[in-house]
Parts: sequence; structure tokens; C-alpha cells
Amino acid sequence: MLDGKKSLFSGMQATGTLTLGNYLGALKNWVDFEEEYETFYCVVDMHSITVRQDPAELRKRARSLLTLYIAAGLNPEKNCIYYQSHVSAHAELSWILNCFTYMGELNRMTQFKDKAAKHTDNINAGLYTYPVLMAADILLFQSDIVPVGFDQKQHLEITRDIAERFNSVYGDVFTIPDPYIGKQGAKIMSLQEPEKKMSKSDENPNASIFLMDDTDTIIRKFKRAVTDSESEIRYSEDKPGISNLIDVYGITTGKSVAETEKEFASSGYGDFKLAVGESVANMLKPIQDKYAELQKDKDYIDNIIKVNADKANYYATKTLRKVQKKVGFPERIR
Ligand code: TRP
Repeated sequence: MLDGKKSLFSGMQATGTLTLGNYLGALKNWVDFEEEYETFYCVVDMHSITVRQDPAELRKRARSLLTLYIAAGLNPEKNCIYYQSHVSAHAELSWILNCFTYMGELNRMTQFKDKAAKHTDNINAGLYTYPVLMAADILLFQSDIVPVGFDQKQHLEITRDIAERFNSVYGDVFTIPDPYIGKQGAKIMSLQEPEKKMSKSDENPNASIFLMDDTDTIIRKFKRAVTDSESEIRYSEDKPGISNLIDVYGITTGKSVAETEKEFASSGYGDFKLAVGESVANMLKPIQDKYAELQKDKDYIDNIIKVNADKANYYATKTLRKVQKKVGFPERIR
């Protein structure tokens, strides 16, 4: 809770290019929260350096992601869209919370184990304490809910554990956050291996639709989507490719599975794939146009970066000061 309003925090890394899966599973739904919640959508650039980044590239991608948040429909006057690195309270609270987190807990984090296995030459302490920085992100804003993908559920659990541990020593300092995991339907699968989630880090570019793909590319990728050797457009567990396409079509057009099956009862896979591709391209076009327009307006984006960082700083510092006092840091003399 912040000033009597429920609050919401979520964040994304500015690595890789956002996919259709990221959009449908996250961004698209975020737009609905702004009335009920005080919302914070962070570009978590501090998390990004837990794996080696090219500095110029990271800077570019961070700005691009922030711009995309707006292009996708988040009104920056109602939603606080900002860079994590512009609010130093993230790092400061993270340090304090490190002292309330057990190594045993961090050792159990599956994302750490996965990433450590992938980046064997750089298993740094930041990668290890990544979940603590994430806990700081969330707890700084007294967040009630945190919309995340299923893969982040464990990080939400450790956040709650850290918050409860802190509260049990010092009283009610932190709101205990609940994860908000989107509907199953929002889980978009790879177009090439439909048993696997669509991922921005997939090596095969045909497996993912990127938000910035143009119409021709989108249609071509859907036409090449892996399906099965039957010809019936039917939702079924043993038809993961077609089922995924039915899901995508359903989300982009608002049609139910039954409606889609009926609409394409006498069509072949080729026609159906084309229809899905067109529906996705039509949905993304306005976002792409808005993005291009925003990118040209440097002053406008700069102003949003400044105003929202100030807003985030205001709330974050409030929580941080409270925490610093609780743990016994000396008062500031003004
Ligand atoms: N770890 C999240 C991810 O990779 C990103 C993230 C960082 C986040 N801090 C957060 C998500 C706080 C929600 C809340 O997807």
C-alpha cells in the first residue's frame, strides 16, 4: 500500500528483443491495472549486469524497452516507468536485505543454478544475490501484487520470506506481496518447438515473433510454424503447434477456442496460419507505429525518464529511510 492505494511492481530486463510472448503474457495485461493500483514498471538494468553486457548496447536496449512500455499502451503519467539504476534505494535496500537472506535459500534458486551452468566463466556474487535485489525492488514500493511469469514464482516466494522475516523482527515494515501469474492462455509457445515456451533468447529466429518484426516477417514465421501431419484445426494436447496458434488467434481476436475451430472447420493449415499471422501483424502495427513516433521525440522521452525517476525516488526513499531507522543506522542531520 502506498498513500492508501494498493501498489503494483513489475520489471523486465532490457536484454534481447521482446517477443509476442512477453507482450501477450505481460505488457498487454499491465495496461488494465492503472486505475486500481499505483503502478511501477521498472527497466531492471542493474539485474542485467549480472551477466556481461556491451555498455552501448545495454544503454540502447534499456531506452528501447522503456519506450516500448509506452508504445504498448502504458500511460507514463499514470504508470511510473523508470530505470532501476536511477533510483539508488534499490541498491541500498538490497544490501540491507542481503543481511536477512540465508545462503541456504539462495542455493535453492533454480534460476541461479541455470544461469551459473550457462555462464561458467562468470558466476559472480551479483548473479547469486539477484533474488535479493529483486526483493528490494518489490518491497521498496510496498507492493501488493507483482505480475510475473511462472518462472519468477520462486523469486516471489523468497521475497515474501525475506519480508516476513524482517517484519517479525522490526514490526510491520513491508507489505507482503502476492505474485500475479497470468492465465495459462497467455503462455505462448515457440513456433518451431511448440512444447517449449517462446523465448527472446531462442537461437532460432523463426521460433519467436519479435514485437518489432514487420508484417511480412510475421506472416512468414507463422507460415513456417511447426504443426503436425494431420489437417484438422482442433485444440488438443497432442497437437501443441496448432493449439498454440489457436491460443494466439484467440488472444489477438478475442475469439474462443470453439469459435476458432468452427471458423476454420473447412480450412487447411496454410489458410489458418495466414489468418493468425495477419491477426498478430494487425495487433502489433499500431504499437510499432507509436514506437517509431516516440523514438523521434527525444525530449518527450527524456522528460518521462526524469519525472518518473523522481516519483520512484520519492516512494523508494520513504521506505528506505524507515528501514534504515529500524536496523539502527544513525539519523541524518539536516
Ligand atoms: N527477474 C525478473 C525477470 O527476469 C525481472 C525482475 C527484476 C522483476 N525485478 C523484478 C520482475 C521485480 C518483477 C518484480 O523476469
